[in-house]
Amino acid sequence: MTDTPVGIDAIEIHTGKLKLDLAETFAPAMGDSPEKYTKGLGLHASSFPDTYEDIVTMGANAAHRLMDRKGLEPDDIGRIDVATESAFDHSKPVSTYIAGCLEQRFEGNFHHANKGERKFACVAGTQSIDDAYNWIRADRHRGRAALVIATDTALYARDDPGESTQGAGAVAMLIDEDPNLVELSTEQGYGSADETDFLKPQQQFPSVDGKRSVKVYLARMREALVDYERVGGTIHPDDFRLGPFHTPFPGMVRKAAVLAYRHITRGTDIEDELAEDIGKQPRREAFDDEEAFMDALADYTDELKETDHYLEWYDRTIDPTLDIARQVGNWYTGSVHVARVSGLKSLAEAGEDAVGQNLLVGSYGSGAQAEIHVETVQENWLDEIDALNIDEQLENRYDLTFEEYEDVHDAHNYDEDSSVEEFTAPDGEFVFDGWGRMGERKYRYVE
Ligand code: HMG
Repeated sequence: MTDTPVGIDAIEIHTGKLKLDLAETFAPAMGDSPEKYTKGLGLHASSFPDTYEDIVTMGANAAHRLMDRKGLEPDDIGRIDVATESAFDHSKPVSTYIAGCLEQRFEGNFHHANKGERKFACVAGTQSIDDAYNWIRADRHRGRAALVIATDTALYARDDPGESTQGAGAVAMLIDEDPNLVELSTEQGYGSADETDFLKPQQQFPSVDGKRSVKVYLARMREALVDYERVGGTIHPDDFRLGPFHTPFPGMVRKAAVLAYRHITRGTDIEDELAEDIGKQPRREAFDDEEAFMDALADYTDELKETDHYLEWYDRTIDPTLDIARQVGNWYTGSVHVARVSGLKSLAEAGEDAVGQNLLVGSYGSGAQAEIHVETVQENWLDEIDALNIDEQLENRYDLTFEEYEDVHDAHNYDEDSSVEEFTAPDGEFVFDGWGRMGERKYRYVE
């Protein structure tokens, strides 16, 4: 067992190369007000894969850039775990395809590397980090690092209420000892229950009870927070600089944030200061029946979210984590990892020295499970964040018309036969290259 710090050494993000503008393109075609998306859900655009992109190309392109930038060779990697809920094979894991792609570009091979695929809706990316952390802490890694890749095409059926929250992209992360970016806490909290709110029973697009899924997200996150406090101790808002949460759409995090703030200010100096304006938080023991207590709690929360204390905390701690999500939509397994990058990137842009600051990271997957842990920003974090090229990628996306969006959606629908021309030209990246004799997908690198 090693007690060296373990965490995320480096991150790369790869976005799908197409963009659907929700206010300009989607809203008018759906007969909706643009504000429903930009203000209500907090989303401005979604990323989509071009016709030659899929979960393998996006994941391999993110991992390729990461290995290239860090000067890594296959021999430096002892494990490749892919988290996805868009897999196209029930047996052969996506990590084998990605390793195959990377072997086209690097000397040596990944024959020594343990590969797998993690499934638990959007929380699987965090679970893969967890597996890598445990593997390193157990000293089974022989000095090697782990590659964790969260990759999804988060598409919904046409006209599903979730259609506006779609997205596609991949996040590759290097988990290692003495990490450059963030160290992970050993302490974790879980909230996990058998729920039927979002699932894909042998089908490509999800069956979703959207309104219920929002309630389940909030309930499981609350459980995870309470469970974290059992091992990590009581959390105070001043204990952490950023709160990156799973972001299916920014409005979801807005709902969760006020509940989290209410919880972590309970019994603190902040609750006392707020009492002058909005009173103390209702306590269950002061009420005869549950309904009256819940009503009082809802009234308090409504007032809380308008207070300066809360608004300042939200702007400083939560809002910066949502910048990228607003432009790309839900990336399922990658979403919370995009939120972490988004928050750190905004600190870097503000010239803030974040070394030693803590992040309270809240991951979530439907079905349903939430996980909360703490991360501590490491000395070389700025070099890692400065190396990202996500702004350039977002800027270069092809802006789809609504008709083109419909075609692209069909092109990624396994049930539709569609031959749509690509919208962008591949340039220095892996692309889908057709089907093999056993139904496998084939890939090649385009210079
Ligand atoms: P909807 O029914 O189309 O939208 O879908 P709505 O009518 O509820 O409006 C959304 C918000 O916009 C509301 O705000 C409206 O008031 C507001 P709220 O009351 O909730 O605060 N609004 C406006 N605001 C300003 N100006 C306007 C305007 N019009 C409306 N003109 C729903 C919403 C979330 C149900 C839908 O998008 C959906 O089904 N999404 C997919 C499921 C989802 O994302 N669930 C989130 C929690 S579950 C999760 O995160 C897991 C997941 O990532 C999957 C996984 O784990 O694998 C999804």
